[in-house]
Amino acid sequence: MKLLVTGGAGFIGSEFVRLAVGEGHQVLNLDKLTYAGNLENLEPVRDQPGHRFVRGDICDAALVDALLTESRPDAIVHFAAESHVDRSILSPQPFVDTNVKGTFTLLEAARARRLDRFLHVSTDEVYGSLEPPIEADEDSPLRPSSPYAASKAGADLLALSYFATYRLPVLVTRASNNYGPYQFPEKLVPLMITNALAGRPLPVYGDGRQVRDWLYVEDHCQALLALLEKGRDGEIYNIGGNCALENLEVVRRILASAGRGQELIEHVTDRPGHDRRYALSSAKLLRETGWEPRVGFEAGLERTIAWYRANRGWVEHVRSGEYLGYYERNYSCREVELARLAGPSTP
Ligand code: NAD
Ligand code: TYD
Repeated sequence: MKLLVTGGAGFIGSEFVRLAVGEGHQVLNLDKLTYAGNLENLEPVRDQPGHRFVRGDICDAALVDALLTESRPDAIVHFAAESHVDRSILSPQPFVDTNVKGTFTLLEAARARRLDRFLHVSTDEVYGSLEPPIEADEDSPLRPSSPYAASKAGADLLALSYFATYRLPVLVTRASNNYGPYQFPEKLVPLMITNALAGRPLPVYGDGRQVRDWLYVEDHCQALLALLEKGRDGEIYNIGGNCALENLEVVRRILASAGRGQELIEHVTDRPGHDRRYALSSAKLLRETGWEPRVGFEAGLERTIAWYRANRGWVEHVRSGEYLGYYERNYSCREVELARLAGPSTP
Protein backbone atom coordinates (compact mmCIF):
# COMPACT_ATOMS: atom_id res chain seq x y z
CA MET A 1 0.00 0.00 0.00
CA LYS A 2 0.95 3.65 -0.37
CA LEU A 3 0.62 5.26 3.05
CA LEU A 4 0.74 8.83 4.29
CA VAL A 5 1.93 8.47 7.88
CA THR A 6 1.73 11.49 10.19
CA GLY A 7 3.96 11.70 13.26
CA GLY A 8 6.24 9.01 11.88
CA ALA A 9 9.34 10.41 13.61
CA GLY A 10 7.86 9.88 17.08
CA PHE A 11 7.90 6.77 19.25
CA ILE A 12 5.00 4.67 17.91
CA GLY A 13 4.94 6.28 14.45
CA SER A 14 8.59 5.45 13.79
CA GLU A 15 8.06 1.84 14.90
CA PHE A 16 5.15 1.66 12.47
CA VAL A 17 7.24 3.18 9.66
CA ARG A 18 10.11 0.73 10.25
CA LEU A 19 7.68 -2.22 10.21
CA ALA A 20 5.60 -1.02 7.25
CA VAL A 21 8.64 -0.26 5.07
CA GLY A 22 10.08 -3.66 6.06
CA GLU A 23 6.86 -5.27 4.79
CA GLY A 24 7.15 -3.50 1.43
CA HIS A 25 4.68 -0.63 1.92
CA GLN A 26 5.52 2.81 0.48
CA VAL A 27 5.57 5.44 3.23
CA LEU A 28 5.40 9.22 2.93
CA ASN A 29 6.17 10.42 6.45
CA LEU A 30 4.88 13.87 7.49
CA ASP A 31 6.22 15.11 10.82
CA LYS A 32 6.79 18.55 12.32
CA LEU A 33 9.76 17.37 14.41
CA THR A 34 8.58 18.83 17.70
CA TYR A 35 10.66 18.00 20.79
CA ALA A 36 9.24 14.44 20.48
CA GLY A 37 10.09 13.92 16.80
CA ASN A 38 13.54 12.59 16.09
CA LEU A 39 15.15 11.69 12.78
CA GLU A 40 17.48 9.28 14.61
CA ASN A 41 14.38 7.08 15.07
CA LEU A 42 14.28 6.72 11.29
CA GLU A 43 17.94 5.76 10.77
CA PRO A 44 17.00 2.12 9.94
CA VAL A 45 14.86 3.28 6.96
CA ARG A 46 16.96 6.27 5.90
CA ASP A 47 18.24 4.71 2.68
CA GLN A 48 15.15 2.63 1.91
CA PRO A 49 13.44 3.61 -1.36
CA GLY A 50 10.05 2.88 0.27
CA HIS A 51 10.39 5.80 2.70
CA ARG A 52 10.26 9.56 2.14
CA PHE A 53 10.31 12.12 4.93
CA VAL A 54 8.70 15.58 4.79
CA ARG A 55 9.05 18.03 7.64
CA GLY A 56 5.74 19.88 8.12
CA ASP A 57 2.74 20.60 10.28
CA ILE A 58 -0.53 18.66 9.98
CA CYS A 59 -2.32 21.98 10.65
CA ASP A 60 -0.95 23.31 7.33
CA ALA A 61 -3.92 22.64 5.02
CA ALA A 62 -2.09 23.65 1.82
CA LEU A 63 0.83 21.33 2.55
CA VAL A 64 -1.42 18.39 3.47
CA ASP A 65 -3.50 18.86 0.33
CA ALA A 66 -0.40 19.11 -1.87
CA LEU A 67 1.01 15.91 -0.38
CA LEU A 68 -2.25 14.03 -0.94
CA THR A 69 -2.53 15.29 -4.51
CA GLU A 70 1.05 14.43 -5.34
CA SER A 71 1.34 11.04 -3.62
CA ARG A 72 -2.24 9.73 -3.90
CA PRO A 73 -1.96 7.36 -0.92
CA ASP A 74 -4.27 4.41 -0.32
CA ALA A 75 -4.54 5.41 3.33
CA ILE A 76 -3.58 7.97 5.97
CA VAL A 77 -2.26 6.51 9.22
CA HIS A 78 -2.51 9.38 11.68
CA PHE A 79 -0.18 9.30 14.71
CA ALA A 80 0.88 12.96 14.92
CA ALA A 81 -0.10 14.40 18.28
CA GLU A 82 1.03 16.11 21.40
CA SER A 83 1.06 12.98 23.51
CA HIS A 84 2.12 13.58 27.11
CA VAL A 85 -0.44 14.14 29.89
CA ASP A 86 1.92 16.11 32.18
CA ARG A 87 2.79 18.55 29.39
CA SER A 88 -0.93 19.00 28.66
CA ILE A 89 -1.42 20.00 32.29
CA LEU A 90 1.39 22.58 32.12
CA SER A 91 0.56 23.93 28.60
CA PRO A 92 -2.68 22.70 26.97
CA GLN A 93 -2.68 24.99 23.89
CA PRO A 94 -0.60 22.83 21.50
CA PHE A 95 -2.80 19.83 22.39
CA VAL A 96 -5.89 21.57 21.06
CA ASP A 97 -3.98 22.90 18.04
CA THR A 98 -2.38 19.64 16.90
CA ASN A 99 -4.75 16.99 18.23
CA VAL A 100 -8.04 18.67 17.38
CA LYS A 101 -7.29 21.21 14.66
CA GLY A 102 -4.57 19.09 13.05
CA THR A 103 -6.89 16.07 12.88
CA PHE A 104 -9.63 18.27 11.42
CA THR A 105 -7.21 19.53 8.74
CA LEU A 106 -6.31 15.98 7.73
CA LEU A 107 -9.96 14.87 7.68
CA GLU A 108 -10.90 17.78 5.43
CA ALA A 109 -8.08 17.00 3.00
CA ALA A 110 -9.00 13.29 3.02
CA ARG A 111 -12.63 14.17 2.32
CA ALA A 112 -11.72 16.45 -0.58
CA ARG A 113 -9.49 13.74 -2.13
CA ARG A 114 -11.97 10.90 -1.40
CA LEU A 115 -9.37 8.80 0.36
CA ASP A 116 -10.05 5.07 0.75
CA ARG A 117 -8.93 4.74 4.37
CA PHE A 118 -8.21 7.03 7.33
CA LEU A 119 -6.80 5.30 10.38
CA HIS A 120 -6.94 7.60 13.39
CA VAL A 121 -4.65 6.38 16.18
CA SER A 122 -6.08 7.14 19.61
CA THR A 123 -5.84 6.10 23.24
CA ASP A 124 -7.66 4.28 26.05
CA GLU A 125 -7.34 7.49 28.10
CA VAL A 126 -10.51 8.79 26.44
CA TYR A 127 -12.51 6.32 28.61
CA GLY A 128 -11.10 7.85 31.81
CA SER A 129 -10.63 6.08 35.12
CA LEU A 130 -12.53 2.81 35.61
CA GLU A 131 -13.37 0.99 38.84
CA PRO A 132 -12.35 -2.68 38.96
CA PRO A 133 -13.48 -5.04 37.50
CA ILE A 134 -14.84 -2.85 34.68
CA GLU A 135 -13.01 -2.95 31.33
CA ALA A 136 -13.81 -0.42 28.60
CA ASP A 137 -15.21 -1.80 25.38
CA GLU A 138 -15.71 0.32 22.27
CA ASP A 139 -19.20 1.44 23.40
CA SER A 140 -18.08 2.66 26.83
CA PRO A 141 -18.70 6.33 27.61
CA LEU A 142 -15.94 8.88 27.06
CA ARG A 143 -14.78 10.49 30.31
CA PRO A 144 -11.41 12.12 29.62
CA SER A 145 -9.70 13.75 32.60
CA SER A 146 -6.64 15.55 31.21
CA PRO A 147 -6.46 18.15 28.43
CA TYR A 148 -4.49 15.50 26.46
CA ALA A 149 -7.24 12.87 26.81
CA ALA A 150 -9.97 15.45 26.09
CA SER A 151 -8.21 16.62 22.92
CA LYS A 152 -7.90 13.00 21.73
CA ALA A 153 -11.59 12.32 22.53
CA GLY A 154 -12.53 15.43 20.53
CA ALA A 155 -10.43 14.23 17.59
CA ASP A 156 -11.98 10.73 17.78
CA LEU A 157 -15.48 12.18 17.64
CA LEU A 158 -14.62 14.45 14.72
CA ALA A 159 -13.14 11.49 12.82
CA LEU A 160 -16.24 9.35 13.46
CA SER A 161 -18.49 12.23 12.39
CA TYR A 162 -16.74 12.24 9.00
CA PHE A 163 -17.82 8.64 8.51
CA ALA A 164 -21.40 9.29 9.63
CA THR A 165 -21.75 12.50 7.61
CA TYR A 166 -19.51 12.14 4.55
CA ARG A 167 -18.92 8.36 4.46
CA LEU A 168 -15.17 8.97 4.75
CA PRO A 169 -13.83 5.46 5.54
CA VAL A 170 -12.50 6.20 9.01
CA LEU A 171 -11.21 3.73 11.60
CA VAL A 172 -10.44 4.77 15.19
CA THR A 173 -8.07 2.71 17.34
CA ARG A 174 -7.66 3.12 21.11
CA ALA A 175 -4.51 1.54 22.51
CA SER A 176 -3.34 1.23 26.09
CA ASN A 177 0.04 2.47 27.44
CA ASN A 178 2.84 1.65 24.99
CA TYR A 179 6.45 0.99 25.91
CA GLY A 180 9.53 -0.12 23.97
CA PRO A 181 12.67 1.26 22.28
CA TYR A 182 12.86 4.88 21.02
CA GLN A 183 10.29 6.23 23.52
CA PHE A 184 10.98 9.81 24.61
CA PRO A 185 12.03 9.69 28.30
CA GLU A 186 9.05 11.68 29.63
CA LYS A 187 6.58 8.76 29.93
CA LEU A 188 6.73 6.38 32.88
CA VAL A 189 8.76 3.46 31.49
CA PRO A 190 11.54 5.30 29.60
CA LEU A 191 11.80 7.99 32.27
CA MET A 192 12.27 5.38 34.99
CA ILE A 193 14.69 3.32 32.89
CA THR A 194 16.91 6.27 31.98
CA ASN A 195 16.88 7.58 35.56
CA ALA A 196 17.63 4.11 36.97
CA LEU A 197 20.54 3.58 34.56
CA ALA A 198 21.95 7.00 35.54
CA GLY A 199 21.39 6.44 39.28
CA ARG A 200 18.94 9.37 39.54
CA PRO A 201 15.74 9.29 41.73
CA LEU A 202 12.59 7.71 40.24
CA PRO A 203 9.67 10.14 40.83
CA VAL A 204 6.46 8.20 41.57
CA TYR A 205 3.27 10.29 41.63
CA GLY A 206 1.20 9.92 44.81
CA ASP A 207 1.03 6.42 46.28
CA GLY A 208 2.03 4.73 42.99
CA ARG A 209 -0.93 2.32 43.18
CA GLN A 210 -2.47 3.58 39.90
CA VAL A 211 -3.04 0.84 37.32
CA ARG A 212 -2.11 0.94 33.65
CA ASP A 213 -2.31 -1.77 30.95
CA TRP A 214 1.04 -2.20 29.16
CA LEU A 215 1.36 -2.89 25.43
CA TYR A 216 4.67 -3.49 23.66
CA VAL A 217 4.96 -1.00 20.80
CA GLU A 218 5.62 -3.62 18.12
CA ASP A 219 2.41 -5.45 19.10
CA HIS A 220 0.50 -2.18 18.78
CA CYS A 221 1.86 -1.57 15.28
CA GLN A 222 1.09 -5.13 14.18
CA ALA A 223 -2.51 -4.55 15.26
CA LEU A 224 -2.62 -1.35 13.18
CA LEU A 225 -1.27 -3.17 10.11
CA ALA A 226 -3.91 -5.89 10.57
CA LEU A 227 -6.65 -3.26 10.86
CA LEU A 228 -5.51 -1.42 7.74
CA GLU A 229 -6.36 -4.62 5.90
CA LYS A 230 -9.29 -6.02 7.83
CA GLY A 231 -10.84 -3.17 9.86
CA ARG A 232 -14.41 -2.17 9.07
CA ASP A 233 -15.16 1.43 8.08
CA GLY A 234 -16.65 3.66 10.77
CA GLU A 235 -15.60 1.29 13.59
CA ILE A 236 -13.60 1.75 16.79
CA TYR A 237 -11.09 -0.91 17.90
CA ASN A 238 -9.50 -1.16 21.35
CA ILE A 239 -5.90 -2.46 21.44
CA GLY A 240 -4.83 -3.67 24.89
CA GLY A 241 -1.79 -5.51 26.17
CA ASN A 242 -3.56 -7.85 28.66
CA CYS A 243 -1.05 -6.69 31.22
CA ALA A 244 -2.45 -4.57 34.06
CA LEU A 245 0.14 -3.46 36.64
CA GLU A 246 0.40 -0.89 39.40
CA ASN A 247 2.98 1.82 38.68
CA LEU A 248 5.02 0.89 41.75
CA GLU A 249 5.31 -2.67 40.47
CA VAL A 250 6.56 -1.40 37.09
CA VAL A 251 9.13 0.83 38.80
CA ARG A 252 10.32 -1.97 41.11
CA ARG A 253 10.83 -4.31 38.16
CA ILE A 254 12.78 -1.65 36.28
CA LEU A 255 15.08 -1.07 39.25
CA ALA A 256 15.63 -4.81 39.70
CA SER A 257 16.42 -5.32 35.99
CA ALA A 258 18.72 -2.29 35.94
CA GLY A 259 20.57 -3.67 38.97
CA ARG A 260 19.69 -0.67 41.18
CA GLY A 261 18.33 -0.52 44.74
CA GLN A 262 14.69 0.31 45.56
CA GLU A 263 15.84 3.33 47.61
CA LEU A 264 15.93 5.34 44.36
CA ILE A 265 12.09 5.47 44.46
CA GLU A 266 10.88 8.94 45.47
CA HIS A 267 7.17 9.62 46.05
CA VAL A 268 6.30 13.10 44.75
CA THR A 269 3.12 15.22 44.66
CA ASP A 270 0.40 13.51 42.67
CA ARG A 271 -0.62 14.55 39.16
CA PRO A 272 -3.78 16.73 39.19
CA GLY A 273 -6.79 14.81 37.81
CA HIS A 274 -4.74 11.60 37.92
CA ASP A 275 -6.75 8.64 36.56
CA ARG A 276 -6.56 5.73 38.98
CA ARG A 277 -7.06 2.83 36.61
CA TYR A 278 -7.28 2.13 32.89
CA ALA A 279 -8.52 -1.23 31.62
CA LEU A 280 -9.45 -2.32 28.11
CA SER A 281 -11.16 -5.21 26.39
CA SER A 282 -9.72 -5.99 22.95
CA ALA A 283 -12.18 -8.84 22.30
CA LYS A 284 -13.50 -7.15 19.14
CA LEU A 285 -10.02 -6.85 17.62
CA LEU A 286 -9.26 -10.51 18.35
CA ARG A 287 -12.61 -11.60 16.91
CA GLU A 288 -12.23 -9.61 13.68
CA THR A 289 -8.50 -9.86 12.93
CA GLY A 290 -7.11 -12.68 15.09
CA TRP A 291 -4.59 -10.22 16.60
CA GLU A 292 -3.30 -10.83 20.12
CA PRO A 293 -0.33 -9.27 21.92
CA ARG A 294 2.72 -11.50 21.55
CA VAL A 295 5.33 -9.84 23.76
CA GLY A 296 4.76 -10.29 27.51
CA PHE A 297 5.76 -7.53 29.93
CA GLU A 298 8.83 -9.30 31.28
CA ALA A 299 10.31 -9.97 27.85
CA GLY A 300 9.28 -6.53 26.54
CA LEU A 301 10.83 -4.75 29.51
CA GLU A 302 14.09 -6.69 29.17
CA ARG A 303 14.28 -5.78 25.46
CA THR A 304 13.50 -2.15 26.25
CA ILE A 305 16.09 -1.82 29.01
CA ALA A 306 18.69 -3.52 26.80
CA TRP A 307 17.91 -0.99 24.05
CA TYR A 308 18.36 2.01 26.39
CA ARG A 309 21.63 0.54 27.70
CA ALA A 310 22.91 0.09 24.15
CA ASN A 311 21.75 3.51 22.90
CA ARG A 312 23.15 5.96 25.42
CA GLY A 313 23.99 8.39 22.58
CA TRP A 314 20.32 8.55 21.60
CA VAL A 315 19.38 9.27 25.22
CA GLU A 316 22.03 11.99 25.55
CA HIS A 317 20.78 13.74 22.40
CA VAL A 318 17.13 13.82 23.52
CA ARG A 319 18.05 14.94 27.05
CA SER A 320 18.68 18.34 25.50
CA GLY A 321 17.94 21.85 26.77
CA GLU A 322 14.21 21.51 26.04
CA TYR A 323 13.97 18.28 28.02
CA LEU A 324 15.90 19.67 30.94
CA GLY A 325 13.61 22.73 31.03
CA TYR A 326 10.53 20.48 31.10
CA TYR A 327 12.11 18.27 33.76
CA GLU A 328 12.82 21.28 35.92
CA ARG A 329 9.19 22.49 35.67
CA ASN A 330 7.50 19.13 36.19
CA TYR A 331 9.82 17.65 38.83
CA SER A 332 12.30 20.04 40.45
CA CYS A 333 9.73 22.87 40.79
CA ARG A 334 6.71 20.55 41.03
CA GLU A 335 5.08 22.07 44.13
CA VAL A 336 5.41 25.63 42.83
CA GLU A 337 4.19 24.82 39.30
CA LEU A 338 1.18 22.80 40.48
CA ALA A 339 0.23 25.47 43.05
CA ARG A 340 0.48 28.12 40.33
CA LEU A 341 -1.78 26.08 38.01
CA ALA A 342 -4.37 25.62 40.76
CA GLY A 343 -4.75 29.41 40.86
CA PRO A 344 -5.00 31.74 43.87
CA SER A 345 -6.45 30.04 46.94
CA THR A 346 -9.78 31.44 48.18
CA PRO A 347 -9.59 33.10 51.60
P1 NAD B 1 5.26 11.00 20.36
O1 NAD B 1 5.05 12.21 21.21
O2 NAD B 1 6.42 10.12 20.62
O3 NAD B 1 5.33 11.42 18.83
C1 NAD B 1 4.46 12.37 18.26
C2 NAD B 1 5.01 12.74 16.89
O4 NAD B 1 4.11 13.65 16.28
C3 NAD B 1 6.38 13.43 16.95
O5 NAD B 1 7.24 12.89 15.98
C4 NAD B 1 6.05 14.89 16.64
O6 NAD B 1 7.12 15.58 16.01
C5 NAD B 1 4.85 14.74 15.72
N1 NAD B 1 3.99 15.93 15.73
C6 NAD B 1 3.51 16.60 16.82
N2 NAD B 1 2.79 17.66 16.41
C7 NAD B 1 2.78 17.63 15.05
C8 NAD B 1 2.17 18.45 14.06
N3 NAD B 1 1.43 19.51 14.40
N4 NAD B 1 2.36 18.12 12.76
C9 NAD B 1 3.13 17.06 12.41
N5 NAD B 1 3.73 16.27 13.30
C10 NAD B 1 3.54 16.53 14.61
O7 NAD B 1 3.89 10.19 20.48
P2 NAD B 1 3.64 8.61 20.51
O8 NAD B 1 3.75 8.15 21.90
O9 NAD B 1 4.41 7.97 19.43
O10 NAD B 1 2.07 8.59 20.13
C11 NAD B 1 1.66 8.52 18.78
C12 NAD B 1 0.15 8.48 18.73
O11 NAD B 1 -0.33 7.36 19.47
C13 NAD B 1 -0.52 9.71 19.35
O12 NAD B 1 -1.63 10.05 18.56
C14 NAD B 1 -0.97 9.23 20.72
O13 NAD B 1 -2.12 9.94 21.16
C15 NAD B 1 -1.28 7.77 20.43
N6 NAD B 1 -1.14 6.85 21.58
C16 NAD B 1 0.01 6.84 22.33
C17 NAD B 1 0.14 5.93 23.38
C18 NAD B 1 1.40 5.86 24.21
O14 NAD B 1 1.44 5.09 25.19
N7 NAD B 1 2.46 6.57 23.88
C19 NAD B 1 -0.90 5.05 23.67
C20 NAD B 1 -2.07 5.09 22.88
C21 NAD B 1 -2.17 5.99 21.83
P1 TYD C 1 2.48 8.12 31.58
O1 TYD C 1 3.59 7.30 31.06
O2 TYD C 1 2.62 9.60 31.59
O3 TYD C 1 1.19 7.66 30.79
P2 TYD C 1 -0.38 8.01 31.08
O4 TYD C 1 -0.49 9.13 31.99
O5 TYD C 1 -0.77 8.38 29.71
O6 TYD C 1 -0.98 6.75 31.58
O7 TYD C 1 2.18 7.67 33.06
C1 TYD C 1 1.88 6.31 33.38
C2 TYD C 1 1.56 6.26 34.87
O8 TYD C 1 2.77 6.57 35.59
C3 TYD C 1 0.52 7.29 35.31
O9 TYD C 1 -0.27 6.72 36.35
C4 TYD C 1 1.37 8.43 35.88
C5 TYD C 1 2.58 7.70 36.44
N1 TYD C 1 3.85 8.47 36.43
C6 TYD C 1 4.59 8.63 37.62
O10 TYD C 1 4.21 8.12 38.69
N2 TYD C 1 5.75 9.35 37.57
C7 TYD C 1 6.19 9.93 36.41
O11 TYD C 1 7.25 10.61 36.44
C8 TYD C 1 5.43 9.75 35.21
C9 TYD C 1 5.88 10.36 33.91
C10 TYD C 1 4.26 9.01 35.26
